[in-house]
Amino acid sequence: MTFRQLAALAVGIALGVCAGAAAAANADEPLRPLPERLGLDHRKVELGSLLFVDKRLSADGTIACSSCHDFANGGADPRPRSIGIHGAASAVNAPSVFNSGLNFRELWNGSAPSLEAFVTGVVQNPKVFGSKWSDVVLKISRDPDLDARFAALYGDGVTRDNIVDALATYTRSLVTPSRFDRYLRGDTRAITAEEAQGYERFKSYGCIACHQGVNVGGNMYQKFGVMGDYFRDHGHDTPADQGRYAVTGRDSDRHVFKVPSLRNVALTAPYFHDGSAPTLEAAVGVMFRYQLGRTAPPADMALIVQFLKTLTGERQPELAKAAPGKPAPSAVASAAEAAGRSAQ
Ligand code: HEC
Ligand code: HEC
Repeated sequence: MTFRQLAALAVGIALGVCAGAAAAANADEPLRPLPERLGLDHRKVELGSLLFVDKRLSADGTIACSSCHDFANGGADPRPRSIGIHGAASAVNAPSVFNSGLNFRELWNGSAPSLEAFVTGVVQNPKVFGSKWSDVVLKISRDPDLDARFAALYGDGVTRDNIVDALATYTRSLVTPSRFDRYLRGDTRAITAEEAQGYERFKSYGCIACHQGVNVGGNMYQKFGVMGDYFRDHGHDTPADQGRYAVTGRDSDRHVFKVPSLRNVALTAPYFHDGSAPTLEAAVGVMFRYQLGRTAPPADMALIVQFLKTLTGERQPELAKAAPGKPAPSAVASAAEAAGRSAQ
């Protein structure tokens, strides 16, 4: 464990100790509510929603974004590995698309700096869509409805970058406010007393040192296995298990991953980049052992799981719309900035 990680844990534990029940509306809370307004262009959001389910993104017309990001499963893939074109299995479990626009980087190893970078790459990924952009542009522009929508929104009509922009804008709109957001905004009755106790445990045990900010995660990298060798104990050490090492080649980045968001986590089983934990209880147990190096009474684990369930939210498409007659406040940008600021 590095000094920085120790310091992060110490901060988390200190926060847990001083945060009382009255802290709900406190500006110093380590978790932040989702922005109340996104200020996105709703016509782009609508266009992106059509592209998200469009199998023409794939070379052989079999795969859409929605094939692997299932809205009935919190926007994640219930299969431990996703299946792309020609039956290709992904190297890791697909995380949720919900709230992903608020992550400081995309992908488990953080290799995509933005949603735009991710979407540009994924269409050409031979294990996902296996397409050439020129083919996708041609197929989409032959669709009269889509062609007209692009022409109305973008000066240059259907292009790679405009398809990417519509898909990224739609993805940014997929935020899911929950009861816990209401609690953070000061509605102390939005969660039960037990759920609030679970939140206190989440802070006092130090989960908060890594899962923090607006996405309850998604704003820093951390090693998986700070307090023990998860990979040796689980008998696998694949290239995907190397995490950020694959991006930077630095030994200190081996087994380092983006800390995932815990929003909607009750819906997104199986857990971890390798999909190895079938239940939330199992995942929390692994976190205690390998990230905190401690055990907890079953009652405390159960309280934490109860708290995590308050992070289940619902999409609110109207949030994406800008205030009528006003320039759109860039709430997403400022929330992402805030997430970036707290990333050390
Ligand atoms: C074949 C399955 C598959 C398809 C199709 C697919 N994804 Fe994914 N998606 C994944 C997997 C697997 C990951 C994790 C990859 C990684 O981290 O290396 C992922 C990661 C992501 C992420 C990053 C989330 C995070 O927290 O880091 C976003 C955003 C995303 N996908 C959106 C989309 C969009 C938008 C589309 C359509 C353009 C799409 N996906 C198509 C399987 C898929
Ligand atoms: C030192 C940093 C750190 C601490 C402390 C920590 N986590 Fe994590 N957590 C991570 C990382 C990194 C991952 C991703 C591991 C992977 O899959 O590679 C993760 C993954 C998870 C997941 C799985 C999410 C998913 O979508 O797959 C859950 C649930 C979780 N943590 C809950 C907790 C809880 C509860 C605690 C406190 C008991 C905790 N974490 C403490 C860093 C941390």
